[in-house]
Amino acid sequence: MTRPDGTSLWGGRFSSEPDPVILAFTGSLPFDSRLARHDLIASLAHVRMLLDTGVLARAHAEPLLDGLGELLGEIETGTLTVEGPDEDVHTWIERTLQERIGSAAGRLHTARSRNDQVSIALRLFTRESIAALCVLLTDLLEAWLAEAERHVETWMPGYTHLQRAQPISLAHHLLAHFWALAADADRLQTAYERAGVSPLGAGALAGSLLPIDPRRSAALLGLDRIYPNSLLAVADRDFVADAAFACAMLMIHLSRWAEEIVLWSALEFGFVRLSDRISQGSSLMPQKKNPEAAELVRGKAGRVIGDLAGLLAMLKGLPFAYNSDLQEDKEALFDALDTAAGSIRVVTSISQGLTYDVARLERSLVAGFVTATDLADLLVQGGTPFREAHRMAGVAVREAESRGCELWELDAGTLAGLAPAIGGETLQAVRPEAAAAARTSEGAPAPERVRDQLADAAALLQHLRDWAEDLRPPPIYQAYRENRLAAAEIK
Ligand code: ARG
Repeated sequence: MTRPDGTSLWGGRFSSEPDPVILAFTGSLPFDSRLARHDLIASLAHVRMLLDTGVLARAHAEPLLDGLGELLGEIETGTLTVEGPDEDVHTWIERTLQERIGSAAGRLHTARSRNDQVSIALRLFTRESIAALCVLLTDLLEAWLAEAERHVETWMPGYTHLQRAQPISLAHHLLAHFWALAADADRLQTAYERAGVSPLGAGALAGSLLPIDPRRSAALLGLDRIYPNSLLAVADRDFVADAAFACAMLMIHLSRWAEEIVLWSALEFGFVRLSDRISQGSSLMPQKKNPEAAELVRGKAGRVIGDLAGLLAMLKGLPFAYNSDLQEDKEALFDALDTAAGSIRVVTSISQGLTYDVARLERSLVAGFVTATDLADLLVQGGTPFREAHRMAGVAVREAESRGCELWELDAGTLAGLAPAIGGETLQAVRPEAAAAARTSEGAPAPERVRDQLADAAALLQHLRDWAEDLRPPPIYQAYRENRLAAAEIK
């Protein structure tokens, strides 16, 4: 990369121009241009630290702060686009700054390497993206919670092995998905915290002989932790893997929900109807209404798992400290975060555009003997050992099956010889709604227990909202917004 003045970023040692094939292959500007804002914010913190420590004189630091602030402003308003012949976003920034402020730009890279620079930019980006993802998640969780509140007493079969198993409520089912995603929100928040360690000051790998203050640049970025070891600071991409894993797990959860929508909207189940707004037609079969968005969420889970797998494979066996392999972290991370964000949005839309067929759900409770377990439990309550109770309930199921009736339609007289412990009241208690409502153990589907869950879920949602609202921009960014980059004090 040659600059307008004929020099290149690292040209001093080289006597010939680089091979354009190599340059095109090693360059990362087409994708790391996304980091321009974060890199500029980190650069402002770095320069301000150099000023505060006296490494740079005010006369040298001020033009840098002004110039970087100007670039940041133009990027934020979209008047400046990050493109050019530069190797990466870091060299783009230095070149563009040089075009604006001339040779004063030459002091920007004092006590800094692209190795600590790229890490801090990516960390800031990751935190910002995770915070945005959490906001999207609250919208989705809110939609699911509202739906669950409407269906505390909508009964349906719960499944194991995709066979009707025991009666539950639709609210209970929806809350199962809610809690799975709540765990993802927790993982994302953890990934946010883990990304909040500043590597600035580690230099290429071994720190600096200049009297820098890495804790000062960290504090200016709103971070209270710095690297424990300069080598690890530039080699570490755990925060990228953490974020990608949180995205992959989230996608896996969304894919399980999506798969259910695909199944449940099929005529064979008929548990949900998709509005036209959220369905796709067929180019050939006029009658078709396909749940394609849900199918794609299911499919994209594979893609994000691939992003994570690619990252882990890239990191495996990589010698310390920085290696160019690490440049491969970005596209995978961007893709995981983008795909997760897009999928959450789509799942929210689908959730708002579908209706549950309550009558159909409740009709599915017949013909499956879904309360045979309750029958056995009731016998246990009457003193029968469970294994014997299990056998007797099985006998009752066989009898009902051969007569083509439900368990509660059997008459006690018929059962007297086969399963003497089963009386008339016991049979009434195994009507599905009664049986589900009687399951009052913790986390079980009885309405009062589900209302406990709803309350806990609402509290968790509020906690997540508060967390996202409490996030503050880095002090240096605040100073930039208030035009005080070179002010006497920034706290
Ligand atoms: N583009 C590089 C990356 O994404 C920046 C760091 C480059 N450092 C270096 N010594 N080549 O990782």
